[in-house]
Amino acid sequence: MDQLRFDGRVAIVTGAGGGLGKEYALLLASRGAKVVVNDLGGGRDGSGRSNFADAVVKQIKDNGGVAVADYNSVVEGEKIVKTAMDNFGRVDMLINNAGILRDKSFGKMAEQDWDLIHAVHLKGAFKTTQAAWEIFRKQKYGRVVMTSSNSGIFGNFGQANYSAAKLGLVGLANTLAIEGAKYNVKVNTIVPTAASRLTEDILPPEMFKAMQPNLIAPVVAYMVHESFEDNGIIIDSALGFATKTHFVRGEGTPVRAKPEDAVTIESVKAKWPQVVDMSKAKHLDKNAEVTVDLVEKLQDFEERAKLDKGNKASYWSTYDYNAKDLTLYALGIGASVSNESDLKFLYESHENFSPLPTYFILPGMSMESPIVQQSMPPGKHADFTNILHGEQYIEFLGDLPGTEGEFTTRSYVAEVLDKGSAAVAIVNSEIYQNRNLVYRTQQHIFVLGQGGFGGPRNSSIATEVRPVPKRNPDAVVEQRTAEDQAALYRLSGDLNPLHIDPQVASISGHAKPILHGLASLGFSARHVLATFGGNDPANFKALKARFMKPVTPGQTLVTEMWREGSRVHFQTKTKETGNVVIGGAYVDLKQVSPVKANRVSASGLKSDGLFAKIIEEVNKNQAMAKSINGIFLYNITENGKTVKQWTLDLKTPAVYEGPLKEGKPDVTLTVTDGDLVEIASGALSPQVAYMKGKLKLAGNIMLAQKLGPLLKSEAKL
Ligand code: NAI
Repeated sequence: MDQLRFDGRVAIVTGAGGGLGKEYALLLASRGAKVVVNDLGGGRDGSGRSNFADAVVKQIKDNGGVAVADYNSVVEGEKIVKTAMDNFGRVDMLINNAGILRDKSFGKMAEQDWDLIHAVHLKGAFKTTQAAWEIFRKQKYGRVVMTSSNSGIFGNFGQANYSAAKLGLVGLANTLAIEGAKYNVKVNTIVPTAASRLTEDILPPEMFKAMQPNLIAPVVAYMVHESFEDNGIIIDSALGFATKTHFVRGEGTPVRAKPEDAVTIESVKAKWPQVVDMSKAKHLDKNAEVTVDLVEKLQDFEERAKLDKGNKASYWSTYDYNAKDLTLYALGIGASVSNESDLKFLYESHENFSPLPTYFILPGMSMESPIVQQSMPPGKHADFTNILHGEQYIEFLGDLPGTEGEFTTRSYVAEVLDKGSAAVAIVNSEIYQNRNLVYRTQQHIFVLGQGGFGGPRNSSIATEVRPVPKRNPDAVVEQRTAEDQAALYRLSGDLNPLHIDPQVASISGHAKPILHGLASLGFSARHVLATFGGNDPANFKALKARFMKPVTPGQTLVTEMWREGSRVHFQTKTKETGNVVIGGAYVDLKQVSPVKANRVSASGLKSDGLFAKIIEEVNKNQAMAKSINGIFLYNITENGKTVKQWTLDLKTPAVYEGPLKEGKPDVTLTVTDGDLVEIASGALSPQVAYMKGKLKLAGNIMLAQKLGPLLKSEAKL
């Protein structure tokens, strides 16, 4: 980096006869600045006078620099500025550094001790800075540093006067930063800690040795360089270390329960934990931001109160997420780089980086909240030992949320059902982003052993599971979960030990820790999206599922899918046991893409697309398909061998890859992959194909003719 120079610039350093000020003066002069070395040369407590600024000036001159001594007190700052103007004709930088100490415990502090400290530190900085201010404004350039202290920021025994004056300098700098901004006058604050005569009896001896002022001087010199861009900031520096310090505000809270309530001493006390909660603290740059922030929070408070009306206990929470949360979740539900199309869920710089839709179930999980507990009828109770996540629903109202953001969630128990032995709390969550409702979720929370209170058995508002169709599934995807699946998934937020701690699992009656129900659900939702939704999360509208049985990490999940228009019914089994672990489930898609193959296979035949289209047509026109009342088996050949079979079962109806699962087909069609596509496109008439032996038919040939009307463009089949 080029050397940062101060050629042609004039600096005033107050209190530069020794300590920190001397180091500032020497450094600036060595980099080309002309320096006014101000120091009235008093004792540490401000008494007496001497001209030890001369020694500093001599040292600068000996080194070939330019400097002049000034013996005025900063209380007469205008005289120091005059020295600069008389000798050098300008002022560009001012470091308000002069200082003294008059330490006394507060009870013993005389008014004089108070006044003198304030005169030197605070009034001195005021006087000197004000005298230079007009010059800065006119030349549209100025760099000012105030010197504060950790004694001001944190307090220090025996330094009431000093602490007050030092924090006063921060306030002065804050306002001057605003007033000077448009004239390119930057006013910042240094909080130094260094060995000097002020600290020789305060710092421990080894510290004192290490804390050389020349370790701080470069920090302050940079803060008065013309390339310095910050304005109104506080920099703490010591031991060759520097850091910004600033004030932060907590999230805050209304100090009453509802907008129509009075604020009382008791309501304040009740809200105190939130008043002093700094977990969401942030720094605000401008005073105006404080007001805006407050007004926004007040509006939120009023809007929430409106939404809460009529609900016993609604629970508001906020939720932040970012790309890392999304990718961690994607790994937790089995997305893998071994599958190229999953990369967009795992790599934040991917051009189509997207969230997996089921991720958004998480902000609606308010299990930790007391709302289920509060909703229990008299004599019944709910806690984490007797509740079970029974069902889950999620519905997006518009576009899927982005790859990072913040939600505000309102959760409430909409209904408590009485299922005999268990109670079921229906928990609704509304998820808002920038005050817009973006999606909603619903959970059925089973509260074991807490039914029998005479409540309603069925819900009027719950979104219900739907039985899967009776026919064979249109598509099946299998995926093995990893042994560490639950260990990975729990990092997305559900840290229940049941999923990782063998002892807890065994107490709960499981041989091993079990996989989270939402993890298995995430797997299946991915399978549905990849098979029927073009693997495009934007296509995802809603999902409903019931958790039936636990899954052990390492088991293979088998997602069976049935397409009905834009709804894909599914259920999930574990391959090892055949148990249905997720049942009555469905995903509603916005746009359905054709199923590519019944089992995920990589055969890549040209006719695969054709059968995808057939599946779509059959699904759309089920009644018509059934009216044909026939079962067709296609043998697709290549080089004389059957490479794939498709069953077109219009009795059920169902279309799937492979031979008929039960019974015999009415018609068997044998044709090459290429010829079938030609027939379908109209390039080859089925009659000609049949005559030439390209299309072989066996069984009820007349039935084959009936396929036409159903398959429209595929009429020639
Ligand atoms: P220092 O005592 O070596 O330097 C202060 C200088 O200011 C002295 O040379 C003194 O003669 C001069 N001075 C006092 N009253 C004056 C007046 N009315 N007009 C002009 N000059 C006057 O002490 P040090 O440590 O170098 O202090 C520099 C600044 O840093 C002070 O403002 C001090 O409060 C501040 N500070 C120092 C810390 C440290 O650890 N050394 C900690 C926090 C703040």
